Amino acid sequence: MVTALHSNDIKEQILELKEKRNAVILVHNYQVGEIQDIADYVGDSLGLSYHAKKAEAEVIAFCGVHFMAETAKIINPSKTVVLPDKDAGCSLEQSCEGDKLDSFLRENAEKNYYVIAYINCSAHVKALSDCICTSGNAVKIVESAPKDRPILFVPDQNLGSWVMERTGRKMDLWQGSCYVHVEYTRESILKIREEHPDAELIAHPECTYAVRMLSDEVCSTEKMINYARNSKSKDLIIATESGMLHRLKKEVPEKNFIPAPTQNCACSECHFMKMNTLEKLRDCLYTLEPQIVMPEEIRARAEEPILKMLSLSA
Ligand code: 13P
Ligand code: SF4
Repeated sequence: MVTALHSNDIKEQILELKEKRNAVILVHNYQVGEIQDIADYVGDSLGLSYHAKKAEAEVIAFCGVHFMAETAKIINPSKTVVLPDKDAGCSLEQSCEGDKLDSFLRENAEKNYYVIAYINCSAHVKALSDCICTSGNAVKIVESAPKDRPILFVPDQNLGSWVMERTGRKMDLWQGSCYVHVEYTRESILKIREEHPDAELIAHPECTYAVRMLSDEVCSTEKMINYARNSKSKDLIIATESGMLHRLKKEVPEKNFIPAPTQNCACSECHFMKMNTLEKLRDCLYTLEPQIVMPEEIRARAEEPILKMLSLSA
């Protein structure tokens, strides 16, 4: 009871500060339920990018991970963008450092790569890319790439190989991966499918080939909502970060959602996503720190491939 009162107090403080700061609260599907419930918009990386671009409020409080808030700042630079916890990173972003990609492209200059970067990367990597994609539009972005140039896809090898399967287009893949999604294995998925033989299984494309092969649908977090709503199955097994279950249960209450187990635990939590809390959201609205800042030269170069993505997938 004390905890409930406490969190209600914090929610009121957040709403007051939101008003005072003229802020909008954008939230990713993997955030804890209480942050999702206070959002102006909850969605996947693509939906969040569109909302960040058109945001008119003076402040964008971005509850997600750093690359998402950074993307918001890149495409709507006159806004103050705050992220409740500045250390909320991403293993995919960490797997592809801008300097390493820069050296790789220089060493392979004769290839004249068309670089497609999954949005889970730094501003520096975006600035070195020709077009950005998300899991929601990767197939479309790859299909629209010039046919006469080889594609380098960074940083997620699993999303990249799924797109190759879907499009038949060969690409060179950077060897990054999401530390959460690679924890699902063939064995852990076979076991849960055996326990729920009538359930459909939906997996995120950051999962490995072995897991994707055992799934009924592979899609972005946003598309999971529609798929679940329209599925004929009453039970659905979800192979993605646990925060997704909050929105699925809320928006599709007539279905049962079963979190897919990983090999070593049943947690499926992205510790980066879970660094944001209601308290930190309140504090960042109060202090307007930590703020997303970056050199203008990088921002301007990173903006182009993001805008290209937004116009290609509109
Ligand atoms: P979505 O764009 O599908 O929400 O995925 C983002 C992400 O970080 C998945 O791990
Ligand atoms: Fe990055 Fe994986 Fe966390 Fe998504 S779930 S933010 S890809 S580490």
